[in-house]
Amino acid sequence: MSRVAYVNGRYVPHATAHVSVEDRGFQFADGVYEVIAIDAGHFVDELPHLDRWDRSLAELRLPPAMPRNAMRQVMREMLRRNRVREGILYMQSTRGAARRDAPFPRQADPTLVMTCRRQSLPGPAQVEAGVAVLSVPEIRWSRCDVKSVALLPNILAKQKAREHGAYEAWFTRESDGVVTEGGSTNAFIVPTDGHLVTHPATNAILGGITRDRVLSLARDAGLTVEERPFTLEEAKSAREAFMTSTTTGVYPIVQIDDAPVANGRPGSLTLDLNARYMAFSANGEVPA
Ligand SMILES: Cc1ncc(COP(=O)(O)O)c(C=O)c1O
Repeated sequence: MSRVAYVNGRYVPHATAHVSVEDRGFQFADGVYEVIAIDAGHFVDELPHLDRWDRSLAELRLPPAMPRNAMRQVMREMLRRNRVREGILYMQSTRGAARRDAPFPRQADPTLVMTCRRQSLPGPAQVEAGVAVLSVPEIRWSRCDVKSVALLPNILAKQKAREHGAYEAWFTRESDGVVTEGGSTNAFIVPTDGHLVTHPATNAILGGITRDRVLSLARDAGLTVEERPFTLEEAKSAREAFMTSTTTGVYPIVQIDDAPVANGRPGSLTLDLNARYMAFSANGEVPA
């Protein structure tokens, strides 16, 4: 069955879907995006994702292409037309197409695009194996809290990680050694005190929806949660480490640079949170 994309009010074949060469997303990365998981036929944490979408738009003074209720209808239509029960919905909005000039155009309709594809969270064998991360210098701007499509530092970091045999890059500040987050994931450690530690949701990181969900699942499970900065050095001596995101869920980290995390196997707390998140994802439908 062929895939369908949504482009500015029309459902079109994915293969031929297009926007203008003068689109400001293409020319200036003047746009925002969201990725929402679909599990068992429903959107996972739909409303928090839409809240973050609204916030990103507002922070960049991008006008919404349509009201939330209409967006939610298009999202559901995309699921239906693409027959996706397990996968991801991608949505992107830009300041629209206009003659190339940096300041905001006086007249431009926002571009809104959605695509949808089948994809699964890492399966049991991948979770059991865990992955490696590579530390890279934090070179990004001071508005990482906005989910903007300007992802060049993230792309370069992730590419470098892959070339070093690692799955993800960990942005690490050279001034103080603090790990902010991954290229497309949030970073967590469990130091020897058994607490759960992750960088606070400041403008230095993207406040992940999965991060928030995992923190709440952890609190419900009685864990002590600390939202505080941690250094690469502290991470390397931690008992456990993992990353979170919409596409990875809770993914164990078993190696940081050249050093194994603890015994080089996923930690028990990480595996427990992975199971709790998987259960939430499959069952946690937010009422429409
Ligand atoms: C830089 C960055 N941090 C964290 C995340 C994780 O966010 P979420 O859990 O909302 O997918 C992402 C997701 O794309 C990201 O790009």
